[in-house]
Amino acid sequence: MKTRTLGNTGKALPSIGLGCMGLSEFYGPPTEQVAAIKLLHEAIGLGVEHFDTAEMYGIGSTNESLLGEAFQDRRDKVFIATKFGPLRDPNTGEFSGIDGSRDNCRRAVEGSLQRLKTDVIDLYYLHRVDPATPIEETVAAMAELVEEGKVRAIGLSEAGGDTIRRAAKIHPIAAVQSEYSIFSRDIEADVIPACLETGTTLVAYSPLGRGMLSGRFKDESVGDGDYRSFTPRFQGEAYAANVALVDEIEAVANANSCTAAQVALAWVLGRGEHIMTIPGTTKLENLKANLGSYEVQLSDDQQATLDQLADRVMGDRYDEQGMAIINA
Ligand code: ATR
Repeated sequence: MKTRTLGNTGKALPSIGLGCMGLSEFYGPPTEQVAAIKLLHEAIGLGVEHFDTAEMYGIGSTNESLLGEAFQDRRDKVFIATKFGPLRDPNTGEFSGIDGSRDNCRRAVEGSLQRLKTDVIDLYYLHRVDPATPIEETVAAMAELVEEGKVRAIGLSEAGGDTIRRAAKIHPIAAVQSEYSIFSRDIEADVIPACLETGTTLVAYSPLGRGMLSGRFKDESVGDGDYRSFTPRFQGEAYAANVALVDEIEAVANANSCTAAQVALAWVLGRGEHIMTIPGTTKLENLKANLGSYEVQLSDDQQATLDQLADRVMGDRYDEQGMAIINA
């Protein structure tokens, strides 16, 4: 396991963690609980420490409850990151906005601690920036949780550069979590420079382009209820064009005797020491393969080949509503 230090916390973590969202929602039906817990335990056995969840993953926050069940008897082996902000009806899952207020922060953390069956969250993120609450107020509320010992470090997700700088004046921001991959490099202009300036780790989510960069969607299509089917990159001619682009990643993979998914992860980690990543998987085989990307070295020529793909990707990474609340 290659470790990197989380922001300015001094905490070393293996730079590949596990995104747990897909175990409960969004990418097809949830994984059955016994199998999901087995996978989470196997991940620890393979050296994974950083597990990422959120209040909004799974209707009724079932993803946090899953992690609580899995980790209650091995809390010291794991680093748990969770997030608050987006509001959902716990019964229907319907979204009703983003709330970064102190009240919501204090309400949310108690629920997360309870479901996670722990008395401290290692990394607590604002999941999306609330346009109605100044970031200073949200971060001050999160900083109170650090003082009270409920949270160890603070993060922001999909925050823009100015927001990161303003937030860091209130309290150190250990991590910014944003989508970052061979296909999604929009954060390089503004977000990454702000992370570097403030000593913040970038936690790259969807490093596999929600699975697309593995090449699996050449033979497989996303299911009807699958959230990806609502995103522009997985629709119509964009879908076909994007899947075809993966051929160029596969060519690099073949030259390195590895897989396209491994190339995608090696590319993300190769962008700098300030980066960690949390690929999501529900399968042991894919988890093992993803950890294999620690060993993949890309040559300068290969980097250059991969670097020119993002500009050729068709379609936004979210639908219109989703695009309105990123890099905010
Ligand atoms: P997110 O951060 O949103 O979870 P991601 O990490 O880019 O997105 O991609 C997650 C998707 O990639 C999942 O659909 C996962 O499917 P499985 O649960 O079937 O594994 C898929 N995925 C992860 N690792 C993979 C691998 N090594 N090969 C193929 N697909 C993989």
